[in-house]
Amino acid sequence: GPSLQRDHADAVTLGELRHDAEACTRCDLYRHATHLVFGEGPETAEVVLVGEQPGDKEDLSGKPFVGPAGRLLDQCLEEAGVDRDRCYVTNAVKHFKYQMRGKKRLHSRPNAGEVQRCAWWLGAELDLLKPKLVVALGATAVSSLLGSKVRVMRDRGSILRPPGQFDILVTIHPSALLRIREADEKQRSRLAFVQDLKKIRSFLR
Ligand code: URA
Repeated sequence: GPSLQRDHADAVTLGELRHDAEACTRCDLYRHATHLVFGEGPETAEVVLVGEQPGDKEDLSGKPFVGPAGRLLDQCLEEAGVDRDRCYVTNAVKHFKYQMRGKKRLHSRPNAGEVQRCAWWLGAELDLLKPKLVVALGATAVSSLLGSKVRVMRDRGSILRPPGQFDILVTIHPSALLRIREADEKQRSRLAFVQDLKKIRSFLR
């Protein structure tokens, strides 16, 4: 059917693409966010990590995965033997969506329309980067990259190769680990996440 998406050809560098994204009004999330949080990492990265959306710290700093989830991601990548600095790190949705609870800004989940609107930017980043592997961290990244047929808990740890697309490693979001209270379960889940992340290594030789 008719598409809202123009092609991605306008911006020829990630810097230009970021500049264009900073003026984005494709959905309403720009209205209450401090910064658009664009992806970060080498233009030559062969691996792209995709999260959900910026959190409070990311919104304030303009950088992806710098808050609690980002610290945990860094630790797990290190345990998995993956150098974050060689990866390009971005999000499925590039503005922080939140609700006020007192003085706190609490993360709220982007809806399908917001994810779909923002998938245009993610697609444009991937078109420029042409990575060997994309890592989908959690359900929002999975639905943006792969649609609704892929399920995180059923498909995690597998690398999917949709026709005409990049290889996509499905795994959980590090925030899911932060929410687990029970110590043994937390440890088990963390180890399973590190196991998934080890699959990145053969793409970074
Ligand atoms: N969670 C995400 O999905 N992305 C970030 O950048 C930070 C937290």
